[in-house]
Amino acid sequence: MIVCGIETSCDETSVAIYDSKRNKFYSLVSSQVDIHSKFGGVVPEIASRNHALNVMPLFIDVLKMAGVSKEDINLIGVTKSPGLIGALFVGVSFAKGLAFGLKKPIVGVNHLFAHIVSTEIENDVKPPYLGVVISGGHTHIYLVDECYNLKLLSKTIDDAVGETFDKIAKFAGLPYPGGPFIEELAKKGDEGAVQLPIGLKGDNDFSFSGLKTHVINTITSNKFKLEDVAASFQRVVVDTLALKIDYALKRTGVDVVVVAGGVACNNYIRENLPKKLNMHCYFPSKKLCTDNGDMVAYAAYLLYRKRKFLSKFESALDIDEFIK
Ligand code: KG4
Ligand code: ZN
Repeated sequence: MIVCGIETSCDETSVAIYDSKRNKFYSLVSSQVDIHSKFGGVVPEIASRNHALNVMPLFIDVLKMAGVSKEDINLIGVTKSPGLIGALFVGVSFAKGLAFGLKKPIVGVNHLFAHIVSTEIENDVKPPYLGVVISGGHTHIYLVDECYNLKLLSKTIDDAVGETFDKIAKFAGLPYPGGPFIEELAKKGDEGAVQLPIGLKGDNDFSFSGLKTHVINTITSNKFKLEDVAASFQRVVVDTLALKIDYALKRTGVDVVVVAGGVACNNYIRENLPKKLNMHCYFPSKKLCTDNGDMVAYAAYLLYRKRKFLSKFESALDIDEFIK
């Protein structure tokens, strides 16, 4: 199968071709990070306009890269939710146009599902497993069964882990998105220097807002070096993730953990979360941790093979139901 994956949920436009027979991915990403960093965060209207400008050229170029024509495409996958509504509409409208024009089936893909299964692209791992999403908008633990049904086990009740990194970074005067800058600072810091709390210790859900406030107050107090605060913050993030993952492992009896999403780019987390859990954790490569079309194409392929619920171009209409 030749699957085209389209991602426009936030500030990255990406189109990918997945050749399932040869298990090969061809992918292009146009990031808007530089555009939005001036504003200290993603401006939805600007994001939508840039997706509209970028999606067609990326589609044409990725076909060339993969050495296929648009008529060779057998299935179209597109991120349907969650995300910025205007941004999603650009990708979904483009995908629907393709599906109608080419008379090919289309699958609307949940962005978090795509992040989770992106772990399978370069790792030899299959469900059942715990799918942990740590991104700018989400901190969720799912139980993923053999048929790729998802059961939500834990979620954040306030800030997502990436959002916490970004808000702390903004307060410290670092550029947006702040996650990589906090990671860089933390390399020079002492992770035991500052005592910081784990939110909602006894519960399954996450809470990061108390930790965020504590870190911000610590920075304001000027009692500690910023490097030490950053390192101590990352240590508590790992402790928090490990605590909740451990609960989920015990609750479900599952013994495989995959961790994906933008924050999974963080080397400290990649090294220390498995140590803290005392088990191997599967991560996508860093390129696949941030938003990309590869994961959307692969997720669409899995869903299509599994459910076969969409066929021919009429199915493109079904996608409206996904925009919720
Ligand atoms: O998955 P993603 O690209 O977009 C969403 O779907 O949210 O994740 C973006 C988030 C941002 O909050 C960013 O600061 C964070 O991932 N991030 C990091 C690192 N690289 C990206 N957080 C911590 N350390 C990093 N190295
Ligand atoms: Zn994402």
